[in-house]
Amino acid sequence: MNFDLHSGGITDCAAQTFDAMVLFQSSKVPQPGGSLGALLKELHLAGEPGKKAGKLLQLYRPADVASRRLLVASTGDAGPREMRQAAQAAVHAIKAMATVKKIAFCFSEDPSPAALRAAVAAVGEASYVYTATKSKADGRHLTHVKFYAPVGPEHHAAFSRAVAQNAGVELAMEWGNRPANHATPAHLAQVAKTLAKNAKVSCEVLGPKQIAKLKMGSFLAVAQGSRTEPRFLVLKYTGAAKTQAPVVLVGKGITFDTGGISIKPAPEMDEMKFDMCGAASVLGVFQSLAKLQPKVNVVGLIPSCENMPDGNALKPGDVVTSMSGQTIEVLNTDAEGRLILCDALTYAERFKPSAVVDIATLTGACVIALGGVRSGMFSTSDVLAHALHQAGEAALDPCWRMPLDDDYADGLKSNFADVANVGGRAGGAITAAKFLQRFASKFDWAHLDIAGTAWKSGAAKGSTGRPVPLLLEYVLSLEDAAQHSANAMTKPIPRKAVAKTKSKT
Ligand code: BES
Ligand code: MN
Ligand code: ZN
Repeated sequence: MNFDLHSGGITDCAAQTFDAMVLFQSSKVPQPGGSLGALLKELHLAGEPGKKAGKLLQLYRPADVASRRLLVASTGDAGPREMRQAAQAAVHAIKAMATVKKIAFCFSEDPSPAALRAAVAAVGEASYVYTATKSKADGRHLTHVKFYAPVGPEHHAAFSRAVAQNAGVELAMEWGNRPANHATPAHLAQVAKTLAKNAKVSCEVLGPKQIAKLKMGSFLAVAQGSRTEPRFLVLKYTGAAKTQAPVVLVGKGITFDTGGISIKPAPEMDEMKFDMCGAASVLGVFQSLAKLQPKVNVVGLIPSCENMPDGNALKPGDVVTSMSGQTIEVLNTDAEGRLILCDALTYAERFKPSAVVDIATLTGACVIALGGVRSGMFSTSDVLAHALHQAGEAALDPCWRMPLDDDYADGLKSNFADVANVGGRAGGAITAAKFLQRFASKFDWAHLDIAGTAWKSGAAKGSTGRPVPLLLEYVLSLEDAAQHSANAMTKPIPRKAVAKTKSKT
């Protein structure tokens, strides 16, 4: 998909020919002149297409519009959320018209940079079409999307960020959606290697022998029940000085979760192909970073394997030794995510990270707690928790902080090992986080449980690409912060301020 930002307004857009032109109409009285302006005023007076964001009106060959089709999409008060609704509705309507390849968007009222970004992001997401395992090509592909908007530096930055985000989201959706026989740990390693073609990205792929050498006994215990080999992926994006501590992102990469010997029931088990969406989101973030080239350092760690029940599989009650040295009693082989993540968290220590964020489709309990709207967020650092929360709000990819009281770890006590891999059913998302916390004592840490947000079930079954927008926003906020403190260091400090700081110490 080709995204373009063009400086201009409604009349510029109307002068060019596209397969369809989309006009975002806010509830404000429209200003433009000409016959298109008159049409907009008339629509406004008639209350068309309705006040609610996402309402649509389709027109054919309106006067002074070069494109044959005009879609007027209501954006209400034109905030980012409304803009997203309108863009989604417009793209869905367009997708229903088989021949539309090139479309353009313009705005009745100049969008804020945030609203422009939301529109571009929503168009990207809504226009994604899965084709990988279909025998016939899908004709509904949009190929070119052009936005007519004011082009100041802020709009430009918002636009580039959205386009880069879209590339990451698309990669995450694509690999989330691919079935487990087309998305094995080796396939994910291939994706990582492709990303490493970018000069600032490098990648290392470890196989079973190297994983064993690292003593990742917990990760390997999950992998041992499958004929498909595990992989441990180490991605590095180096955008800042090597001396700058990186953020480490750890993604759960279970390419299929049968539950193992504690096998899952048949209904909806197919959806456990999405159990690598944490890993896919890490790959997606690297795709976006490669496009944007920000001045930050990021490490991505992906433990990836299948959770299968074969003759060599892990059995309930087995005790395994993690890379940290802690022993784990595996009371339920279906609680495998934490078993692979704990070793990756231990591995993360070697990077002396400024923060570690793991991303995992970890618990059904998190789906019960928060549904599909907000991801669960757990953190040992208030600063990190705040930053992730803010990033989620800004990127329209929200999360909600959950507790980590030590009392929640009571159920994880074991008579035969240092810790058990499950507590009771109650508070299941929190006990899972408490388990992980034992392996995250050496750095600031956060855990995102994306079990409810990473994919949709039912007729709209498919990966959402979340939380790529949140993670990207968070990583870029670190660049902004670093830029700020760099400025502060190079700027001469006013004398008074110097005196003040001195008198304080
Ligand atoms: N991948 C699942 C979590 C999951 C289940 C996500 C359903 C989305 C929908 C995870 O590995 C799992 O099986 N968790 C168990 C943990 C339990 C055994 C403590 C769960 O949530 O049931
Ligand atoms: Mn499981
Ligand atoms: Zn799982």
